[in-house]
Amino acid sequence: MADMTPKILRGRLLSFSTAPKGPDDTDAYSYIEDGALLLRGGKIAACGEFADVAASADEGTAIIDHRPHLILPGFIDTHIHFPQAQVIASWADQLLDWLNDYTFPAEMKFADKAHGERIAKAFYDALVAHGTTTASAYCSSHPASVDAYFEEAERRGMLMLGGKTMMDRNAPADLCDTAQSAYDDSKALLKKWNGRGRAHYVVTPRFAITSTPGQLEAAGTLLREYPDCHLQTHINENHNEIAYTLELYPEAADYLGVYEGFGLLGRKTLLGHCIHMNDRELGVMRETGSVAVFCPTSNLFLGSGLFNKAGLEQAGVRTAIATDVGGGTNYSMLRTLDEGYKVLQLQRQRLHPLACFHWITLGNAEALSLQDRIGTLEPGTDADLVVLNARATQTMALRMETAESLSEELFVLQTLGDDRAVVETYAAGKALKS
Ligand code: GUN
Ligand code: ZN
Repeated sequence: MADMTPKILRGRLLSFSTAPKGPDDTDAYSYIEDGALLLRGGKIAACGEFADVAASADEGTAIIDHRPHLILPGFIDTHIHFPQAQVIASWADQLLDWLNDYTFPAEMKFADKAHGERIAKAFYDALVAHGTTTASAYCSSHPASVDAYFEEAERRGMLMLGGKTMMDRNAPADLCDTAQSAYDDSKALLKKWNGRGRAHYVVTPRFAITSTPGQLEAAGTLLREYPDCHLQTHINENHNEIAYTLELYPEAADYLGVYEGFGLLGRKTLLGHCIHMNDRELGVMRETGSVAVFCPTSNLFLGSGLFNKAGLEQAGVRTAIATDVGGGTNYSMLRTLDEGYKVLQLQRQRLHPLACFHWITLGNAEALSLQDRIGTLEPGTDADLVVLNARATQTMALRMETAESLSEELFVLQTLGDDRAVVETYAAGKALKS
């Protein structure tokens, strides 16, 4: 539920209007040293200098003073697995062994609605603790897990995307649906949840290995019937995964050709990983406006490979960044940026901290086509916010003694920060962390 009582948050405001082209691109963002937001009805009613915002508010409006901390739009995680909260940190070889040995057994437990409800509470507690206000999640293949997921989001007033994982082969029988039941269950869940409060339904075939052609066909049918829905799946993460996919779909030109053939690509399509892409796939990604989702902690943990951000963007492909918990090893978008920065360093690609914080806010909002609702501090958008303390730990405080600019402070936050740097998280104007 949105918090309807108007209030003023005072602090150092940072919000982006476009992707910073470099360290000196001050046009790309707005930074207000003594700034304030007026929150009303779960939305940002005003944003500006504290003195101006305070003067415009009704007398007696409560003021929450977050100085000297930074206030940013809440972080957005574009790819995460809700039923993998107990899979995170599992010692495995690479993707396919990790799925079979840890992930599928853990997801089977979500046949029990009570288990899903318990994990949903813990999952949202983790998101909020880490400053994430929106995420796009894979639920398990059980419809009850989708209900547990969206019910808990509704309780907290959070804008969340997600859907039932569709999977009808190459997994334990108890986890498998069929092409028809996945279609029927997804459609029923979509009708129940999509657009209810802040919920967005995502058609979610896990990946080509665990879906028959009939099931991918059903996913394409759902997308045509409900074109405002997103689609999420995985692609080109791991060499064994790619080889197996091409065996299962010998007629496809390449991995992306499988999804392309079933009409699954478009501006609302989120493709996790996109590490090992060929030129044809890059061209199709660009033409369809599909989004390549970078999952650095997962790619390192599972030894999957290095995401070529510059190569994708030079080819005109839209990109996003995400945790991919439980293949990913942290809920924090700050930890995710830190690992992402290192993945790019290994390829001699340098990412500036301003570009990093744009990416986890407005950049990811644009990747989800939700930039009119979330990802900025623009008046009229939803009051989803994070309050950050760059001196949260002794290590950070010591380093901050010599930081001389906003960019340096942001770099300290992304390199050393985690949930301890998140002072408060607001969803629809309501403080959820403290
Ligand atoms: N490919 C198919 N399923 C998964 C999953 O759960 N995690 C990751 N990282 N890759 C996948
Ligand atoms: Zn994933």
